[in-house]
Amino acid sequence: MRHLMSPLDFSVEELEHLLDLANDIEQNPEKYAHACDGKKIATLFYEPSTRTRLSFEAAMMNLGGKALGFSSADSSSASKGESVSDTIRVVSCFADICAMRHPKEGAPLVASLASKIPVINAGDGGHQHPTQTLTDLLTIRSLKGRLDNITIGLCGDLKFGRTVHSLIEALVRYPNVKFVLISPEELCIPDYIREDVLKASGHEFEEVTRLEDALPKLDVLYMTRVQKERFFNEDDYVRMKDFYILDKEKMKLAGPDMLVLHPLPRVNEISTEVDSDPRAAYFKQVQYGVYVRMALILTLLEVKVC
Ligand code: NCD
Repeated sequence: MRHLMSPLDFSVEELEHLLDLANDIEQNPEKYAHACDGKKIATLFYEPSTRTRLSFEAAMMNLGGKALGFSSADSSSASKGESVSDTIRVVSCFADICAMRHPKEGAPLVASLASKIPVINAGDGGHQHPTQTLTDLLTIRSLKGRLDNITIGLCGDLKFGRTVHSLIEALVRYPNVKFVLISPEELCIPDYIREDVLKASGHEFEEVTRLEDALPKLDVLYMTRVQKERFFNEDDYVRMKDFYILDKEKMKLAGPDMLVLHPLPRVNEISTEVDSDPRAAYFKQVQYGVYVRMALILTLLEVKVC
């Protein structure tokens, strides 16, 4: 039985198959409409979510299955002190697969060790968010036609943004990917990503503060929200929250084919006036998230559709 804790749990070849499957689902949704008849996904969300939880539930429903779960720790037995290991043992009796989001780094991994069903990490604290990365890879590959030979700018909260950590880990496996890390000093990428992932891989990267300088050289701009819930101090958050605002003026500095991605939710970091720019791909990205989660459910449940 396989779980998904990190994007590295799949080899590059396996990822290629998964993304191909997601594109086939996009083209032929009816072929997959009964692939998971009678199956259930449990979504155990101890932290707020709109997209990720609903996208897992929609993915399973699109495959003919059903969804159950909870959307906050308060409404689960966690509020009575139950451990994630006990919760997953119980949920293993109710569902065939589970997606778990938790504020503590490593909680889905702990759950997977006690689980009788595949567990998907749907975001663990400031650590990883592998299914957002699968979404990002599918979006880039579908809209750019490749995952290698790209210059990607990651902008905003690179310290606490788990989507950024997972995406960098995934992209260093492709040749000639250049990274421009755009953040204020206080929100720069954690040391372990800089040293053990970027430097260790030998990929070219630079760390800058000004978005304007980076824009002209990017194929993809990945904007992120300042992660309010991970700050210890409200004043620091208020000081940082509007550090970057991508607007129409700044978009003039970017190339005609630069994709703008964002895992969402957006706060102020992308002005709504950018939404109508053909380079804005963050709502398409949400749709790709459903296809890739459908592909992931089929893969982890080992369901083959001919
Ligand atoms: C992201 C997350 O939860 O890390 N959201 C998402 O799942 N699409 C990004 C964020 O909350 O800023």
